[in-house]
Amino acid sequence: MTTTKQRLLACLKEAPRQWVSGQRISNRLGISRTAIWKQINSLKQDGHLIQSAPKKGYCLEQAADILSPGQIRENLRTRVMGRSGLVIFKETDATNRQAKILAARGEAEGTVVAADAQTDGRGRISRSWFSPAGQNIYMSIILRPPMAPAQAPRLTLMSAVAVAQVLQSAGLNVRIKWPNDILINSRKVAGILTEIGTEMDRVDWVVVGLGLNVNTPAEKMPPEIQQNATSMLMEKGRPFERAALLCVLLENFETRYEQLKAEGFGPIMDQWRRMTDIIGQKVFVDVMDRRHYGTVTAVDDDGVLILEDDHGQTHRIFSGDVTRVRPNGI
Ligand code: BTN
Repeated sequence: MTTTKQRLLACLKEAPRQWVSGQRISNRLGISRTAIWKQINSLKQDGHLIQSAPKKGYCLEQAADILSPGQIRENLRTRVMGRSGLVIFKETDATNRQAKILAARGEAEGTVVAADAQTDGRGRISRSWFSPAGQNIYMSIILRPPMAPAQAPRLTLMSAVAVAQVLQSAGLNVRIKWPNDILINSRKVAGILTEIGTEMDRVDWVVVGLGLNVNTPAEKMPPEIQQNATSMLMEKGRPFERAALLCVLLENFETRYEQLKAEGFGPIMDQWRRMTDIIGQKVFVDVMDRRHYGTVTAVDDDGVLILEDDHGQTHRIFSGDVTRVRPNGI
């Protein structure tokens, strides 16, 4: 349900940086001038920059980049994703952890958990994920796919395709590093963490967690990731509105998920291959406590990395951490 405050903000957004009279707003929304004044104060408290002047009315200088269920629902054009459940935290430990709790309690497919900040965001291999407030997207989606546990890694590659396509359409030249890191000029802009709950021989739930560096400026990147990480802001030189971006991500995620269910994994893998440079690269891959060296000859139709080592032996690698070996060493 849209609140008066949301309708007022939408009204001001129609004429950004222009004065809108109190009378006009009052007629449009059917509320008193006092009610408008109260709601304007509340919008200011939320961080929106709004000027007010007698006789002129109100002027939205800059809308705050807030992740609120209202703002998201207003823009969301999905059937399932973010429809049945949409939980937005100002701060939480990790959206994947919260989504897993909800999934285990039986929450429906398409439930989305997002946060403005995470205090204990996690990446693959339990690495921490940089999750400052007010800058980036941290979200987790609950799925209940009709598939066997062995097929669940397909969802990770599918998610990488969905995210990469959205970034491409925002004008970013992204590449996918197997299995699911999204890179721009070899620096990571987004990562995906897929976790799964099984029951006998079928998937009960899957949580797909996405961390996307949206508006972190270069100087705010922590030193330990400064060399290897980037953000959309750093690449394009302008900020992106997170709520709108989150909606587009969910829309494309839903499209790819529907495609996976209707057409199988082949078309997704074709799209994935078009967005990677890994084939033919010399790499090493860390798998648990082993390191494999070799050349990537293919990523097969199940998303498995095929590596040929210097002795001509072929290895099928289901999951691991890939590092490119530069011609002059590592
Ligand atoms: C990786 O590349 O290592 C995966 C990073 C995944 C980070 C996201 S942020 C939202 C969700 N919650 C988490 O704790 N992790 C994922």
